[in-house]
Amino acid sequence: MSNKKLWGGRFSAAIDKAVESFTASVHFDQRLALYDIQGSIAHASMLGNCGIISNAEADEIIAGLKQIQKDIESDNFSWQRELEDVHMNIEARLTEMIGDTGKKLHTGRSRNDQIATDMRLYVRDVVDQLSQRVKDLQIVLVDLAEQHFDTIMPGFTHLQAAQPVTFGHHMLAWEQMLERDRQRLTDSRTRLNISPLGAAALAGTSYPINRQQTAELLAFDRPSENSQDSVSDRDFVLEFCSNAAILGTHISRMAEEMVIWSSDKFKFVDLGDAFCTGSSIMPQKKNPDVAELLRGKSARLLGNQTQLLVLMKGQPLTYNRDNQEDKEPLFDSADTALACVDILVRMLAQITVNTEQMYQAASDGFATATDLADYLVKKQIPFRDAHEIVGKVVAYCVQNNQQLGQLNIETLNQFSNLIEDDVYDCLTLEGSVSSRNHIGGTAPEQVKQAAIRARRRLQA
Ligand code: ARG
Repeated sequence: MSNKKLWGGRFSAAIDKAVESFTASVHFDQRLALYDIQGSIAHASMLGNCGIISNAEADEIIAGLKQIQKDIESDNFSWQRELEDVHMNIEARLTEMIGDTGKKLHTGRSRNDQIATDMRLYVRDVVDQLSQRVKDLQIVLVDLAEQHFDTIMPGFTHLQAAQPVTFGHHMLAWEQMLERDRQRLTDSRTRLNISPLGAAALAGTSYPINRQQTAELLAFDRPSENSQDSVSDRDFVLEFCSNAAILGTHISRMAEEMVIWSSDKFKFVDLGDAFCTGSSIMPQKKNPDVAELLRGKSARLLGNQTQLLVLMKGQPLTYNRDNQEDKEPLFDSADTALACVDILVRMLAQITVNTEQMYQAASDGFATATDLADYLVKKQIPFRDAHEIVGKVVAYCVQNNQQLGQLNIETLNQFSNLIEDDVYDCLTLEGSVSSRNHIGGTAPEQVKQAAIRARRRLQA
């Protein structure tokens, strides 16, 4: 029988072609090749150091693996589906290159701890890249916050103008969401950075291996505690996809606001021609497609997280082939999250903020009504009564098509004779925002300080 499989010994019939293509993963797991080689080099040098193979054999294996790495990097490696996955493609090639010594690489190891190792190395890299990119995005937001620390816009609840805020304050609200995303990534890194290598198939190995050494060679913090858990655990994949899903949810919220703000009705921002597309039928259109796609791509991130939860649910210990299905959602979440953050950095760096339009919108919507109520409270009227009085003032304005700041004192006195000339300080947008002068408030002075704190935190 001409069975090419590295596990072919037990089998008398060649594998069915349909089964071969059903079980193969090399078309997607070849993305792990460099991590696989990194893990194999650590494993081979440990085998040599522990005298499980000779040092000369270890050197030969390592030189062969380095050559394979070069071939893969220069696209001179021919991946074969009948060899199933990334591990067996590389090992088969190694043996083809260096002969029987190549067959010793898999001593004291299984594809089960091998794939767990590859995956941790991959996720660790992606976590580092994504953290850096999220940080770049935070910096763009801090830049915008500094430029617009006193740019007034309406703040919203229920998408109704609620109270005036500054655009800088809004940018720093987004920045906080991302700060939590970055913290979650950093936090997950500590949990994922342990070495499963040495768990072998599930129970460990009878060879005198040194797990501490492979852990150190791969810059893991320590070897994992339990061999059965090590080969079956994919929490770190799930955690990454969950963190990416939360990040995606944040990005979708930012994107949605940009869609709204750039619309004809709002005109708060201009997204830049490079980030919009035209319509094939309506010549007047400039559509915020990039922002919409950012909103849409969060669906993938949420879907991938769900897929992984369902994949892991109910799996008995230890390794099951189901786990091969963890890779595509993981890769997709990594690619999607990295691309979304990258495009958002570019888009925000080119955004034009229409400060007049925002100011106008803040003036239009009775946004200082709360300030008038607070003014009355300061004149010893209980808040509930003040609320009632201002409600009537607003109803009057609606009926007479006026803004709060346009009412004269005589008119205001019809609602409360405690209102005096100083009321206009709080009925103006500037007065309103400046009065929210405490940590976390929207007063321009506070926004400036918050931006300084954020920048310092991001530089640390
Ligand atoms: N391709 C497999 C995976 O991604 C590698 C481990 C296979 N192990 C096994 N015993 N079949 O999970």
